[in-house]
Amino acid sequence: MKRTLLYEGKAKQVFETGEEGVLLHRYKDEATAFNARKRGSWAGKGRANASISAAVFAYLERRGIPTHFIEQVDEVTLKTRRLRMLPVEIIVRNLAAGSLARLLGYEEGRPLKAPVVELCYKNDALGDPMLNWYHFRELGLTDEELRACEEFGLRVNEALRPFFEERGMVLVDFKIEVGRDAGGSLVLADEISPDTCRLWDKETGQRLDKDRFRRDLGGVEEAYEEVLRRVTGEGVS
Ligand code: C5P
Repeated sequence: MKRTLLYEGKAKQVFETGEEGVLLHRYKDEATAFNARKRGSWAGKGRANASISAAVFAYLERRGIPTHFIEQVDEVTLKTRRLRMLPVEIIVRNLAAGSLARLLGYEEGRPLKAPVVELCYKNDALGDPMLNWYHFRELGLTDEELRACEEFGLRVNEALRPFFEERGMVLVDFKIEVGRDAGGSLVLADEISPDTCRLWDKETGQRLDKDRFRRDLGGVEEAYEEVLRRVTGEGVS
């Protein structure tokens, strides 16, 4: 298949194929954290994240949430629908961790009264800052789009929580990105993986996500393989 590199991100390459409206997302083994100030890589990361994302997208489609996922074409590559991306990162949280724990002065792991949604400006140069609605209006987003982003994030959360729960994991928080399809509907894009979710083992509280890399906890490769096993394993819905 012909591939023209359209965009290279920290953890993925995006290619055009010549097929109208279709892209290829190739998941890399590289990892970055703290706005790329920390870098690393390990064999198998791209393969784990591609297959985890594919399984999660397929599940969300079954739950009636539109995603850009078409099919997995090889170990590290997903075929996706091309979208008009919104410059927004939607973060949804069920327990306090990371930047929210710092923001509110909470212990990590403290349950939240209700899921908390944050909208961040997708802009690497600025470090993807959390903005309020006034800022986003200034950038040209409408109230309707902002409300739709928040509602979309909450719907994804409602679908993902039981998915991970059934697989022995607590979905602490996650980040998603959305785009519009040709008809103008919001569609889930980017990836859903241990790079973009905090996942804690339900029994032990062990972190099975990128915090192992961010915080030098060790066992990062094993954690991603464990999530892959649980998400794609036999005998789960
Ligand atoms: O760092 P923070 O606590 O704000 O992250 C919240 C969630 O969003 C985490 O699951 C993290 O992995 C994800 N995230 C992301 N990409 C970013 C910022 C956060 O995937 N640029």
